[in-house]
Amino acid sequence: MRDVDPPVEEQTAWEVLNTTPARRYLAPDPIPDEVLWEILDTAVRGPSGGNRQEWGWVVVTDPEIKKRVAPWYRENWQRAYGSRKEQFLAGTAEGLSPAGFRGAEHLAEHLEEAPVWVFPVLRRAAEATDPRTGSSIYGAVQNLCLAARARGIGTSLTTLYAGHEDELRSLLGLPDDALTMALIPMGYPERGRWARPKRAPVEDVVHWNSWGAHARRES
Ligand SMILES: Cc1cc2nc3c(=O)[nH]c(=O)nc-3n(C[C@H](O)[C@H](O)[C@H](O)COP(=O)(O)O)c2cc1C
Repeated sequence: MRDVDPPVEEQTAWEVLNTTPARRYLAPDPIPDEVLWEILDTAVRGPSGGNRQEWGWVVVTDPEIKKRVAPWYRENWQRAYGSRKEQFLAGTAEGLSPAGFRGAEHLAEHLEEAPVWVFPVLRRAAEATDPRTGSSIYGAVQNLCLAARARGIGTSLTTLYAGHEDELRSLLGLPDDALTMALIPMGYPERGRWARPKRAPVEDVVHWNSWGAHARRES
């Protein structure tokens, strides 16, 4: 098992919560089964409506499955981001920073190399019309990412694989009513660090009692 930096016993929950960016440069080294189980067992501590836990967590290590899915991901990557590479690298496109773009491009090109993929799957989501359906798995997905980080394993929440739902359903043997809600490639990071993710100032995005009413943070 790999050493984790900082060691697990020295990490505080606060640090983990504040230093879990998307990690997209992942080494192909395997994740020990016991570590993976521990992370999955932490993921499922997350909340779901009525504690119904209508989820499943499909762990993919099979190269044949990865080989089928990765081209779908790259197709969407190219359409959504790759085709505007120059703008992203020049910092003139909205969204990903140049470094974020390079990381995301690297992940798109090396997706199969991540030793483990996890598809969080939600039952009754395939035909759902409630826009909040996904809220019954959001928390557990974030638990997965935070638990992985606490064990020194990088993740990124991705959705660019989507669009081949029926093929993916049959590839993974999912029930008809189930939908994959994300693809989370996992692996030990080989570049980058556990930095504090850059975000807009919290005062700008917090609305006090009504939308548009901003408050100043005192401390
Ligand atoms: C719904 C959703 C879909 C995402 N899809 C992708 C994706 O397909 N590929 C990818 O590399 N990152 C994806 N991301 C990760 C975002 O790009 C990332 O959270 C954002 O750039 C902030 O990154 P940071 O936390 O490292 O600052 C997705 C994130 C969310 C919440």
